[in-house]
Amino acid sequence: MWPNERLINLFDIELPIIQAPMAGSAFSDMVVAVSEAGGLGSLACALLSVEQARRELETIRRKTSRPINANFFCHQQPRSDPTRETNWKRRLEAYYVQMGLDHNAAVPSANRAPFDEEMCDLVLEFQPEVVSFHFGLPDRNLLARVRRTGAKIISSATSVDEARWLEDQGCDAIVAQSYEAGGHRGMFLTQDVSTQVGTMALVPQVVDAVKVPVIAAGGIADARGIVAAFALGAAAVQIGTAYLHCPEAQISPIYRQALKDVKDNETAITNVFTGRPARGIVNRLMREVGPMTDVAPEFPLAAAALAPLRSESEMAGSADFTPLWSGQAPRLNRELPAAELTRQLAEETLEKLRFIETMASPDVLAQAAALATAGRPLSGWPPVASTGRVGRA
Ligand SMILES: Cc1cc2nc3c(=O)[nH]c(=O)nc-3n(C[C@H](O)[C@H](O)[C@H](O)COP(=O)(O)O)c2cc1C
Repeated sequence: MWPNERLINLFDIELPIIQAPMAGSAFSDMVVAVSEAGGLGSLACALLSVEQARRELETIRRKTSRPINANFFCHQQPRSDPTRETNWKRRLEAYYVQMGLDHNAAVPSANRAPFDEEMCDLVLEFQPEVVSFHFGLPDRNLLARVRRTGAKIISSATSVDEARWLEDQGCDAIVAQSYEAGGHRGMFLTQDVSTQVGTMALVPQVVDAVKVPVIAAGGIADARGIVAAFALGAAAVQIGTAYLHCPEAQISPIYRQALKDVKDNETAITNVFTGRPARGIVNRLMREVGPMTDVAPEFPLAAAALAPLRSESEMAGSADFTPLWSGQAPRLNRELPAAELTRQLAEETLEKLRFIETMASPDVLAQAAALATAGRPLSGWPPVASTGRVGRA
């Protein structure tokens, strides 16, 4: 039924749609809804304590027996660099003064922890069918323990080199995360954001370079994007920003409103919030301090000094210091419950694929050629109309 069924067969799911793991925004409700609808729901654990992750996984396992994905960051925890941290606080000092906050007060430590033994024990306990990583892969011993659970292991690649590296380490599938993608970039073999690649170029080059199935991620938010991902050789899509509009997304009213208002050219890649490049809606901090800066401490330490500014400004109804992660296709979003969104995306994709198939069938091609010769072109053909829409569904 689908042009490429490698991923749905590998994960034993019905629809080639993965709800992207979204740390801090998507929890058990979203995961259950998407997995029950036939896609793959993903629980991002990067911002959860082990206890919180356990509660979420318990809820998920109670509510669905379908496959799920548990997702972890696997960065190297940086050594504290007091000089850099002092410089960062100095860079932010004017904001502290403006808000009447004490910039000498201790700041909460940043809380994005890499995958470790304790989280690995949780994986052993709950046995998610898919375990995904961001920023490469954890060390060999942890990875071997995960593999022994029988979980399919996937990770994000932002280049062909990263995709090959992940395949060499034994990944079962690869998320090709393009420049358009919202949230943190999974890049791990380079730190150079300027050379990151867009979906149209990244996906087919990754598909050509690896043997495992490729999942396209970045700027995909409707059936046109999913059809295009298949055309580029992907076996599935991973969609993030579009799911943030669902009622299941646990985001603040300020963030929800910003996502409704944002335009295609109002996101940027920035490292000001955490120290690592991530795509979000441009706001005051990004404009005035970034979007990229050398002053921010290494990931995830930059977040600590921002925490007081963020909570103070959010209390005043402002998103000036809040990370508003979003991909580059925010205008394509619709507000639907996650299960409905998943099913609608799948149905609309199949409809467009059927339309293309019909229009490209030998009969229709012959008919179109005959009518064109007679000066009466077949209406609705070719299937890619001048609006850029595929088909007319
Ligand atoms: C709010 C948000 C949080 C994210 N958090 C994570 C995460 O915790 N782990 C991860 O692997 N990817 C994360 N991502 C990246 C997604 O996996 C995916 O690459 C991206 O959402 C795809 O682009 P799109 O948002 O345009 O659909 C996040 C994305 C967003 C928008």
